[in-house]
Amino acid sequence: MPALNEVTVNADQLVDRLQRLASISDCPEPPPAVTRVVFSETDIRARQYLSSLYEEAGLSVRVDAIGNTFARWIGSDPAAGAVGTGSHCDAIPHSGMYDGTVGVLGGLEAILALKRAGFQPRRSIEVVMFTSEEPTRFGIGCTGSRVMAGAITTQRLCELVDDEGDNYDTVRLRAGFTGSLESVRLSDDYYHAWVELHIEQGPELEATSTDIGIVTAIAAPSTYTFEVIGQGGHAGAVLMPGRRDALCAAAKVVLAIEYLAKKSASPDLVATVGQLHVHPGAINSIPSQVRFSLDLRDTDVANRDELLSQAIAWAGRIAKQRDVDIRHQCLNSDPPAVSSPEIVEAVEDACESLGVSRQRMISRAYHDSLFMARIAPTGMIFIPCRGGVSHRPDEFSTVEQIAKGVSVLAHTLAKLSGVG
Ligand code: HGY
Ligand code: MN
Ligand code: MN
Repeated sequence: MPALNEVTVNADQLVDRLQRLASISDCPEPPPAVTRVVFSETDIRARQYLSSLYEEAGLSVRVDAIGNTFARWIGSDPAAGAVGTGSHCDAIPHSGMYDGTVGVLGGLEAILALKRAGFQPRRSIEVVMFTSEEPTRFGIGCTGSRVMAGAITTQRLCELVDDEGDNYDTVRLRAGFTGSLESVRLSDDYYHAWVELHIEQGPELEATSTDIGIVTAIAAPSTYTFEVIGQGGHAGAVLMPGRRDALCAAAKVVLAIEYLAKKSASPDLVATVGQLHVHPGAINSIPSQVRFSLDLRDTDVANRDELLSQAIAWAGRIAKQRDVDIRHQCLNSDPPAVSSPEIVEAVEDACESLGVSRQRMISRAYHDSLFMARIAPTGMIFIPCRGGVSHRPDEFSTVEQIAKGVSVLAHTLAKLSGVG
């Protein structure tokens, strides 16, 4: 094992790389605001940048049929299950530059720090950049890790369409990713262990002045679309009695969902309507159709699903009162993931040996580790982010916080890989 003080993280270079990656963006605002949607030309440029870094590091790189990118440091026992780390580089519109990227570039830096310390891994160590962790383009997140873990059928994947009406398969082929979708699936022994470094995207670590979060579980995400169909008409000519205004009905449903979530017994239950589209969307025309999204999560799946049933029942009553039709469709409804005790312990040991403070916690955000946990013993390492802010341009972690996270990751990877 490398002596602890020999594993030094080049945090300044890592931050430079994070800033360089942030400049590859479709966001009209300058970095640190970032927009990088999967399979866009910008996404492809970001991948090219990352691949150039992997090659420079002497890693062997492979890209699968939907663009998941694997950069492997081959160990002395190349046939043994590898130790995996990594995260995502796609970014929702107008978001920040640390979400996901700290895990990808931090994973690379952890490997470089171990190489510089003369460490030789027994099990190969691999840094992964997942395709499409964010739901921006296809409505559900983590499509790359879902397919790897067999958590979505290739048939269901090809049913996903973007706002242009193009399905996943068409878009990935157009972006230059070929090969059978079935080949993306990883066997359960592909990884011996998996650990992802990520910003917390919440306020706890900063509030308790703790260096590292050791994730014990990842909350269960679900996403739905609701369709409200009323009757349109002239904004001036149609009097108020008897209107079947789809937007007013939708607004009642949205507020009912908020009311139900706020009074839920579970503190981890969160409900968000992030998208709402009005048809025909004219100033002087009564909305005839509204479509909105619902992002519903909880660590307690039964409670999450109970809230959904209550929301659907409430929507049914509103539909009757307002003589509109309200339908809903489930896009994804996933169970939570529990971290593996051996990974939690490996991270705990790394923190102990580095003398960094840590606390065990759950992740309310989902991550690709939610699905990697289905095919490998999995854990996550969190670093604090300022004010707990994320999915906003003012998302920020200091170079010291990033350096601590990467050091803990490097020691964890070394421990899980074993000495070559
Ligand atoms: O939405 C999430 O939890 C993740 O940041 N995509
Ligand atoms: Mn995110
Ligand atoms: Mn993320």
